[in-house]
Amino acid sequence: MHASSRLLIGMIFVCSCQRTAAPSGATQLILNLPDVPEYKGYQPPRNASLTIDGKDVFEPGQTRRALLVQPEKGKDSITIVFSYWPVSHQNIIRTRVVKITSQAPISLDLSREDPSRPDVIKAVYVPTPSEVVQAMCRLASIGDKDVVYDIGCGDGRLVITAVDTFNARRGLGIDIDPQLVELSKKNSARAGTGDRVAFRQQDALAIEDFSEATVVFLYLSDELNMRLRPVLRRTLKPGARIVSHRFRMGDWKPDASGGDHDLYLWNIER
Ligand SMILES: C[S@@+](CC[C@H](N)C(=O)[O-])C[C@H]1O[C@@H](n2cnc3c(N)ncnc32)[C@H](O)[C@@H]1O
Repeated sequence: MHASSRLLIGMIFVCSCQRTAAPSGATQLILNLPDVPEYKGYQPPRNASLTIDGKDVFEPGQTRRALLVQPEKGKDSITIVFSYWPVSHQNIIRTRVVKITSQAPISLDLSREDPSRPDVIKAVYVPTPSEVVQAMCRLASIGDKDVVYDIGCGDGRLVITAVDTFNARRGLGIDIDPQLVELSKKNSARAGTGDRVAFRQQDALAIEDFSEATVVFLYLSDELNMRLRPVLRRTLKPGARIVSHRFRMGDWKPDASGGDHDLYLWNIER
């Protein structure tokens, strides 16, 4: 075994999954994985990956894997990360840290989310075309009293336009991707929106309070919208509006839609 890799990639069997004795120092890890679709020809690529302590051991088409593993020197646990694309516009990253205390085989079900260690869910970056940005601001009836949030702000265009063109009082863009947050800040500086627009890096699902927003823009995915629903419902004040590009909010019936564009509006009432 090469010293730099204490992971024993024992792809010794895949389907039979009988429990065989592991060589000294190694532990048998039996993984249940979701059956993932393959997406070809996308940029950036939508490839699934399965890493153990950073080393990719993914094999297409395998939903049951048996591997021999050993923590890195000085550690007593291994980190398993399964990343996949259930739909072409959304990446799910599922992480488990497993303590290895004996050589007894370990079974791990990665086919579903563990609520105690929630998945990271990332929608792809696709900028809203500028005429649709304008239509979203009009559908939200943005005026000078509004505080506008864009959850998954990309290059910042929605909040910059809301402040710059529709005279919103303030804008806040939040994105999981730090590079896009930097780009948004540059675009805001170029547009001269000054301290009326701010950006921060954060996972949308970590936002606990939307109460200062009077308008929330979304262009994410059905699943992210569904997961955001409870906190939006709980913390937005009456009179606030949600405008979503393309994706709906489960069974919430929209109060209006965006004409030629794939836009939906929900008014928050009591
Ligand atoms: C479809 S783009 C929309 C960008 C921008 N709102 C627009 O309309 O031009 C989705 C954006 O959401 C960001 N995003 C995806 N998943 C996220 C998450 N879990 N939390 C925060 N931002 C996320 C992506 O990085 C990307 O910039």
